[in-house]
Amino acid sequence: MNIGFVPILFLLLCHPLLRADDTSEKRLPNVVILATGGTIAGSGATSTTTVGYKPATVPVQALIDAVPELKKVATVQGEQVFQIASQNMTNEYWLKLAKRVNELLQQPDVDGIVITHGTDTLEETAYFLNLVAKSAKPVVIVGAMRPSTALSADGPINLYNAVLVAGSKEAVGRGVLVCMNDQINSARDVTKTNTSTADTFKSPELGVLGYIQGDRVAFYRLPARRHTLNSEFDISGADKLPNVEIAYGFANVSRTTVDALAAAGVDGIVYAGVGDGNPSEVTEQALADARAKGILIVRSARVGNGIVARNSEVNDDKRDFVVSDTLNPQKARILLMIALTKTKDTKEIQRMFYEY
Ligand code: SIN
Repeated sequence: MNIGFVPILFLLLCHPLLRADDTSEKRLPNVVILATGGTIAGSGATSTTTVGYKPATVPVQALIDAVPELKKVATVQGEQVFQIASQNMTNEYWLKLAKRVNELLQQPDVDGIVITHGTDTLEETAYFLNLVAKSAKPVVIVGAMRPSTALSADGPINLYNAVLVAGSKEAVGRGVLVCMNDQINSARDVTKTNTSTADTFKSPELGVLGYIQGDRVAFYRLPARRHTLNSEFDISGADKLPNVEIAYGFANVSRTTVDALAAAGVDGIVYAGVGDGNPSEVTEQALADARAKGILIVRSARVGNGIVARNSEVNDDKRDFVVSDTLNPQKARILLMIALTKTKDTKEIQRMFYEY
């Protein structure tokens, strides 16, 4: 039996929107909003300032107060976990956030969590939590492309939709979700595809999981890969994560970046290769030399879609490299970091890349 099935069934049977309490009235779901900064909490000089504004300035209670409609769909409570522009996200912030998320998910009076976040690294935080959050309760990450002061700011509707999804029975057991622009995407597949437009978050080729239309949460697909309750990873005792960096492939690439990373003593390198994750001959040798020093190597692709094929143009068995499956380089970095908290065995790590 799928180990996630029993807790999911239990949560569904207890869900406030299904269960009648003593007075035969359904209560609204309790949703905690954890705020971390970003453009959704940004402010600009005028209503048309959509570039050159200051992200991460508006506190969580002001974000909640700006959307009184939230009260109709959930009992919300806000908490400012930190206040940063998400390009400044670090492993330490992730550990802090994940620990708080897991504490809250254990509380019987919490039905779901929304995390407000900058869009630049939103997909990375989402995938990190997808691997380490320990509950079937919904966790939804949301951001905005326009600051809160902008004409037609997208933050308020995105926040409303995220709370609606986090409090819904439909989102139970679906892993960490990203809700932007009326769409629900899986943390694993979603990526930011445009530097500035509101419809930037997409799951290219693999597609959205569902939509929010009015007050309706509509799912059409399930995430197929292991996540949350069904994940083998546990960061509850960690105060540091392994050091994994990304090297980028391009025409005329030299071995300088890979050698520099190896000399810096990293634990792992994700190579964002060209095409099918390919390094040039010189970078392949640099990666092999790094591997000989004990550094884990994952080949991903700068292309952003498709499966990186094992033992195709690179003999991964001979080199003892791992391939990233369909994970983009920034998400492959996260899985490698988390994998390294458990093992350095490349066969085991390859299994993880095929399962998560
Ligand atoms: C950030 O990622 O914090 C700034 C950009 C954004 O939220 O859109």
